[in-house]
Amino acid sequence: MVRFRLFPSIFAFLLLFLINAAQAQLVSGPMLGHTELRTAKIWVELVPGSTATLVVKSTKDGKEVFKTSETTGKSSWYAPVTFDVVGLDMNTSYDYEVLVTGVGEKKPVVAGKGTFTTSELWQWRKPAPDFSFLAGSCAYFNEPQYDRPGKPYGGDSSIFETMAKEKAGFMLWLGDNWYLREPDYFSKWGIWYRAHRDRSMPILKDFLKAMPQYAIWDDHDYGSNDADKSFSLKEESRKVFTNYWANAAYGFNGEGIYSRMSQNDCDFFLMDDRTYRSSDDMTPTVYGKPNPNKRMWGPTQMEWLKNALLNSKAPFKFIVTGSQTLNPASPFDCLQDYPVEFEELMAFLDAENISGVVFLTGDRHHSEVIKYARKDKYPLFDITSSPLTSGIGRVFGTEKDNPARIANTLVEAQNYTRITISGKTGERIMKVEFVSIKGEVMGTWSISEKELKNK
Ligand SMILES: [Fe+2]
Repeated sequence: MVRFRLFPSIFAFLLLFLINAAQAQLVSGPMLGHTELRTAKIWVELVPGSTATLVVKSTKDGKEVFKTSETTGKSSWYAPVTFDVVGLDMNTSYDYEVLVTGVGEKKPVVAGKGTFTTSELWQWRKPAPDFSFLAGSCAYFNEPQYDRPGKPYGGDSSIFETMAKEKAGFMLWLGDNWYLREPDYFSKWGIWYRAHRDRSMPILKDFLKAMPQYAIWDDHDYGSNDADKSFSLKEESRKVFTNYWANAAYGFNGEGIYSRMSQNDCDFFLMDDRTYRSSDDMTPTVYGKPNPNKRMWGPTQMEWLKNALLNSKAPFKFIVTGSQTLNPASPFDCLQDYPVEFEELMAFLDAENISGVVFLTGDRHHSEVIKYARKDKYPLFDITSSPLTSGIGRVFGTEKDNPARIANTLVEAQNYTRITISGKTGERIMKVEFVSIKGEVMGTWSISEKELKNK
């Protein structure tokens, strides 16, 4: 009799527990964002209306050092949350847990956990530490009812499992990080939907928390194919971008997504190649002269870049932007097709004797390193990394034997890039490796900081 009476109550308890567990879940994440000496950002997406509590403990002694909660709006379409963890110690490891309380529930459940390590204060104390980071562009997850008919465009997503195993300092997403399709980019909701849906892919889970994630955008995660400054929903695209990434900063005065980020002795200028961009179809020249109206970054961002470069003492100064910059044979858009802006940048680098400039780009659906020789100046290089999971774009026509390409750097397969910075002060070496889905090196190139200085 007792057993018989207990059974329904146990059953009811289990049911309640299951309902609670079902609601108290993360939609996506946790994802590690901008992490530096004494702060870190941890991103999650919740079911709208639920509450997340972040608890951070010292890995060494298990002592709680930080706790914060956020309740999301029940009526919002989606509910991404970025926690700012502050007041941390330098060069220290922390464990964290994300507890979620579902809508209408009282008890939180642990919905995610991870670890992170703050940076080391090496300045004024010792040489800059060696480090590596990853980069990649063009990530496409199939969703057949909204995709173009025929062969699926998205490839093997297990590349993210390979990347999750890397012991890298951070990941730099180089644009086209998700692909807005026709059902997405005609509405504000659609732009949110795509970021929400692609971010929730389970195969990303380990990678997103394995290392800090930084991002710029290109046309497909900003708007439609080749979208430019005229894209009507660009303010909503910026909202989505800033809600789904956790960079240190995004532009100024509520415009653009550009910012500067540093890792050890290297600086990264994360450019916005869409918000201020003229149409790719605008004529590059007028009456034989560069068209002053055709710009990719726009005058305000260019002015910012120049000052940021002057302010940098880094041996390698990475200008990170979606479109290629130096490829004379590209049949597609390239900074050189914006001659006024390209010439302005080249004149600035010359006049101010800026050393160590390297471009890091995506978009092309293949990887390569392009060399741009300059008279009496050190050559410039553009490292293009693409695609992570989208279709392959094989080079054709005159680009096949592109004389500007560094030999043995063309990779026409899914890949990501691993860049390692090592060596003594004044002799730092940058090693670039294009890595396959399985973790094999498919192309490699190295350069010393000494080769990126004018004589
Ligand atoms: Fe693109």
